[in-house]
Amino acid sequence: MKNQVKIGDVILANNVITAPMAGITDRPFREELHKMGPGLVFTEMISDKALTYKNCNTLALLDIKGEEGPVAVQLCGSEPQVMSRAAQIAEEMGAAIIDINMGCPAPKIIKNGEGAALMLDEEMATEIVKQVVRAVRIPVTVKMRAGFSQANINATSLAQKVEAAGAAAITVHGRTRDQFYHGLADWQVVQKVAAKVSVPVFGNGDIYEAQDALGKLQMAGCAGVMLGRGIQGNPWLVQQIAAVMQKNPEPAKPSISEIMLTIKRQLGREVELDGEERGIRKMRKHIAWYIKGYRNAALMRNKINQAQNLPELLAMLTAYEQELQQVN
Ligand SMILES: Cc1cc2nc3c(=O)[nH]c(=O)nc-3n(C[C@H](O)[C@H](O)[C@H](O)COP(=O)(O)O)c2cc1C
Repeated sequence: MKNQVKIGDVILANNVITAPMAGITDRPFREELHKMGPGLVFTEMISDKALTYKNCNTLALLDIKGEEGPVAVQLCGSEPQVMSRAAQIAEEMGAAIIDINMGCPAPKIIKNGEGAALMLDEEMATEIVKQVVRAVRIPVTVKMRAGFSQANINATSLAQKVEAAGAAAITVHGRTRDQFYHGLADWQVVQKVAAKVSVPVFGNGDIYEAQDALGKLQMAGCAGVMLGRGIQGNPWLVQQIAAVMQKNPEPAKPSISEIMLTIKRQLGREVELDGEERGIRKMRKHIAWYIKGYRNAALMRNKINQAQNLPELLAMLTAYEQELQQVN
């Protein structure tokens, strides 16, 4: 199979994987992503401590049993022993891979020495990987940034150290912590890391189009790409990129009825898993992304935000679909 990537003993169907995104890549959205055939999907980041305390909301983030494809569970923490215990729990729950978060820029995470703060402490970052690798049978991967700041770009040196500690793959998001999500990702850093380690490297940052993904992959010489904000409201990007990577024709963009069907299915699952009120609230941003660029999308978004219950929201979506069908 072309573009096959192996992470430890996990064989991915292709080299297009989808990013962990807190508040976004929950189970209903992951179910939509699986339909597009990615090589791997990630959970939202999960706090190691909260997991070991068996916090109910945290355990819900680990609802991965029976998903259609392999799922990497991403853990966030700063203590090797707590991370190891959390990794064992995730393994028991069906994780295909444990991913360690070394990229989160949020101040409250950094303050605890977690996320991108680990890039400032290569020794601790390496120790975490070493102990987690020892604690579980499944592969352990790392997701990092280019560095903490422009003055401190250390992805290559950290990648080499975590590889030596047993990491089976590395994702590099080509921004620094100080950039948060602003500016452009620097794919030269991805290229440098890919040249220096033997495990698969996934490049991440600013992929919104299939051709763009191919260009970035070729420039960086990495094993695959990880898609972040580009899949928000557009899970179809996965299959478009996978097709282009395999030199197949790019599938047509989804029709409005396909988009509406996807929204309704995802909404139904959100409500099923989280209840009507929370499910509707969680879906609002997704719906806004799905309909972005369509006629009267802003008006529709305001309407949706007023919907009080599921039947009302479904009726709004159906009416909007009819309105769009009439125009086209
Ligand atoms: C809303 C949001 C939530 C995110 N949550 C996580 C997370 O939980 N773990 C993580 O490693 N990265 C997280 N990220 C970063 C993405 O995984 C990705 O690295 C980043 O968005 C860059 O890729 P992009 O330019 O394709 O969006 C998040 C990004 C966004 C926008």
